[in-house]
Amino acid sequence: MDRNLALEAVRVTEAAALASARLMGRGDEKLADQVAVDAMRKAFNTVKIKGKVVIGEGERDEAPMLYIGEEVGTADRDADEVDIALDPLEGTTITANGGANAISVIAMGPKGSFLHAPDTYMEKIAVGPKAKGVIDLNKTPTENLRAVAKAMNCYIEDLTVIILNRPRHAELIKEVRACGVRIKLIPDGDVSAAIATAIKDSGVDVLMGIGGAPEGVIAAAALQCVGGDMQGRLKPRNEGEIERAKKMGVKDINKIFTIDELAHKDNVMFAATGVTDGDMLKGVRFFSGGAVTHSIVMRSKSRTIRFIEAEHHFIFKPNYDS
Ligand code: FBP
Repeated sequence: MDRNLALEAVRVTEAAALASARLMGRGDEKLADQVAVDAMRKAFNTVKIKGKVVIGEGERDEAPMLYIGEEVGTADRDADEVDIALDPLEGTTITANGGANAISVIAMGPKGSFLHAPDTYMEKIAVGPKAKGVIDLNKTPTENLRAVAKAMNCYIEDLTVIILNRPRHAELIKEVRACGVRIKLIPDGDVSAAIATAIKDSGVDVLMGIGGAPEGVIAAAALQCVGGDMQGRLKPRNEGEIERAKKMGVKDINKIFTIDELAHKDNVMFAATGVTDGDMLKGVRFFSGGAVTHSIVMRSKSRTIRFIEAEHHFIFKPNYDS
């Protein structure tokens, strides 16, 4: 995969972030998502790839754009063939409420780089590089937290676990609290939460709990670029979701997927742009006639992590074009 592609990718997430940030706090989740999807789809038209969406906005019959299987990019004869995992707006409710940590995100890799995860839930555990290799979803949260503390050479009480604030996590939260571990409960956005475990000074060490399966694959791609670790196990809610998973190639619904099975490690790239202010990225800041965006771009091959601050002048791109 061409290394310049990583910089092309950030133009795509910038476009989606610029569009959806206009909807911050306006109480309309659907519209915020729709403008992000429209802008991202349009931005793809200029990217020199033969791209196929494998994690997207849903099945073809449910999503008009960026659906699973949709082909994007200029499709030039000499363009790279890539699989794409994307979420034009990760944190639709966050954006509608003006909360923290909404991002626009894509991951790309050669064909076959990502697990074709159905739109269901996934139990996840994610950590940064220091705790790579010690997590195991077969073990209890207590056992995992003890192993992470040992690997990070710290007291268990010094760890911070990030968990989506959901009733389904009541037992998990109880157990983590019983370990004396600090907890950060978040309303939404477990992609940026998973990445935070691997970012220096984020103040977060472990992500635990059940969130979206597509988001799990995207988070795994990001963690591959920073040397973090993750495991995921699908948590379908009904027979229909089990059937869907099987149709997408999942043979064992109870399988624990390693990070390498969620997203290949050799040559994936990841880009995200902040929509609202967050722990890792600043949100879009508008000024007279333009806006500033803050993005992260990473590649698993080189492990380079770039933070990009870009100034956009709308007079030269009135439709938030990238
Ligand atoms: P959206 O951007 O699609 O709203 O997803 C936000 C999110 O919080 C994800 O980060 C997370 O994986 C998932 O929703 C959790 O699902 P639920 O809100 O159903 O618990």
